[in-house]
Amino acid sequence: MTLGLSISNVSKVWNPDGPEPMPAVQNLTLDVALGEFVVLLGPSGCGKSSLLYIVAGLEDATGGSVTFDGLPITKPSPERSLIFQEASLFPWLSVRDNVGFGLTIKGMAPEKRTKRIDALLRQVGLGGVGDRRPHELSGGMRQRAALARALAMDPKVLLMDEPFAALDIQTRARMQDHLLDIWQSSGASVLLVTHSIEEALALADRIIVFTARPGQIKDEIKIDMPRPRDRYAPEMIELAKRCEALLDEEVTKAFKQQELS
Ligand SMILES: Nc1ncnc2c1ncn2[C@@H]1O[C@H](COP(=O)(O)OP(=O)(O)O)[C@@H](O)[C@H]1O
Ligand SMILES: [Mg+2]
Repeated sequence: MTLGLSISNVSKVWNPDGPEPMPAVQNLTLDVALGEFVVLLGPSGCGKSSLLYIVAGLEDATGGSVTFDGLPITKPSPERSLIFQEASLFPWLSVRDNVGFGLTIKGMAPEKRTKRIDALLRQVGLGGVGDRRPHELSGGMRQRAALARALAMDPKVLLMDEPFAALDIQTRARMQDHLLDIWQSSGASVLLVTHSIEEALALADRIIVFTARPGQIKDEIKIDMPRPRDRYAPEMIELAKRCEALLDEEVTKAFKQQELS
């Protein structure tokens, strides 16, 4: 049995029986070990989100299999939390109640829940704003609240789909540092999608570069550098160039596809 996440020969065709089937992912095989931080990097439209939905259990693969700790993934589970670009907080609930939502459903006793929520809010740096509503927070704070809500369920894998793409560049860098701290203390695996080379290099143990649609693995880049990383270090500049060359080819292909369709 493979511990952690195992994606084996997975394909996804959208609308397979319709007039225009759309192959999004093709024969993709990828293992994510316990505690590993893997980043999926690829041009837009290459099937990254499609793969994440399958791993989250929100969509079925058309072919292949996905297992977690050896068990097939058939439905969503708090073990595999999915975080999107736009934090999907409940606007009518306070930050506290958003973070504690899953704990309430689990039936955790109120006193214990309060303690847990306080600890989570502190962990993501939102100690002072628990009573506010999501619309009263900045975008970065909302993403941290979404992260706290996911962490409340003790996830074994955090699935993150361009989680910081809507944030300004400074906030984004802070959020990356924050995520690294949380990842290191939680022991969870992370599978994060981005189209930013810089983000991939700052975060990943391993970068998986996707081809243009249908998404396949084009290349894999291991990064052994300790974090926080100096993106101007010669090794990092070399890696950035390598990523850029790989991605460029696929972006060009993706643009051609879009022009033809
Ligand atoms: N729910 C859906 N129904 C039909 N086609 C979809 C759906 N979701 C994504 N697609 C198509 O699958 C392809 C890959 O999309 P996606 O996985 O969102 O790519 P990425 O996240 O890499 O930008 C795109 O051509 C997209 O239009
Ligand atoms: Mg996407």
